[in-house]
Amino acid sequence: MKYHIITFGCAANTSDSERIASCYEARGFSKAKSIKDADEIIINTCMIRQMAEDRVYGLVNNARKLRTKNSKLKIVVTGCMVGMAIRDKTGKMMKMLRLRLPAVDAFLPIEEVGFDMMPTRSDPHHALVPISNGCNNFCTYCVVPYARGREVSRTLDAITKECKDLADKKYTHITLVGQNVNSYGADLIKDRKSKIKNQRVTYVKHLGRLRIPTLFPALLEKICGLKGIKDIDFISSNPWDFSDDLIDVIAKNKKISRHIHLPAQSGDNTILKKMNRWYTKEQYLALVRKLKKQIPDVTISTDIIVGFCGETERQFQNTVDLAKRVGFTKAYISLYSDRPMTAAHKTLKDSVSLIEKKRRWLILENLINKPNLKAGTYI
Ligand code: 5AD
Ligand code: SF4
Repeated sequence: MKYHIITFGCAANTSDSERIASCYEARGFSKAKSIKDADEIIINTCMIRQMAEDRVYGLVNNARKLRTKNSKLKIVVTGCMVGMAIRDKTGKMMKMLRLRLPAVDAFLPIEEVGFDMMPTRSDPHHALVPISNGCNNFCTYCVVPYARGREVSRTLDAITKECKDLADKKYTHITLVGQNVNSYGADLIKDRKSKIKNQRVTYVKHLGRLRIPTLFPALLEKICGLKGIKDIDFISSNPWDFSDDLIDVIAKNKKISRHIHLPAQSGDNTILKKMNRWYTKEQYLALVRKLKKQIPDVTISTDIIVGFCGETERQFQNTVDLAKRVGFTKAYISLYSDRPMTAAHKTLKDSVSLIEKKRRWLILENLINKPNLKAGTYI
């Protein structure tokens, strides 16, 4: 029996797919050469934008046609779509999924796969290592807290053991994966049963004050101490809880990547507030200044959303200004997409036209991602 996994979305989904592959291999399946050779097709879905969701409907429809050659072909859907459906207490979303995807045999919640299973990795040197799942931030545009639930961290011991095993297997590069790595461990610290003895606890900001205890700097230091591991990076972190302690650990450990992905989303303070992002443009710039001072060879990439609810031309220009000041090496720019269950969907109007969103996207794309047109770096 052969399996084929198709993964949409972020590094967390890629990492989940590696553990799904292990589940199949443990059941005696082997990897199919292509979708056409598979006995089971697993689609790991993303719901971050409407477009990602639409691609899943198209793909299931195409996969269904392969049943003319293999009548026993099974189609399994997992990932964010299923995560949202199982968390929707009304049951409406699961009903809607079953109605829209009648060709699907099973909807698999990722929690059933778990987070401690050893993944089947294809790269022999570079490994994605999940450190937490879910997010407590509730940015108003984002489905992740609904699709993956609240943040749950793996234990320090489980993560360091996995990294040590990877080092023993000659892996040299580790990417730590979480929706918000900076707050890694907050739940472990609050859980009195877990043994967090003698660990360095760092506080990060919530609602403008140092409130959330995290073990992320401690975890990074532990992994830096592993022999054989030469490169360490992480994805993704948030600007408002990027602590001095974390900058310090990065600055001191050359094994940690000098490239930091720091999603800004917008350079306008009113829009940031509407997005429930806990920083201002000025605070973001101050953080970039600090990073550049303490880690002189640092480079910064970002995520930006254009055309968020009610974004005016002047507000968009504040994002353009932020991009010019920082000198991002890369930006993942998204057109705002209204998502079910989110606070923006419930309380704000998706008022910027598609044409205008595309115009704003192109301006930023040319400014940041087209090297010949790139603005100089200044703050
Ligand atoms: N519309 C557009 N982009 C979004 N992102 C998250 N939610 C949305 C949405 N509703 C983008 C953000 C985030 C990245 C992973 O996807 O920029 O950082
Ligand atoms: Fe979504 Fe915000 Fe959490 Fe990132 S921090 S996953 S954008 S809610």
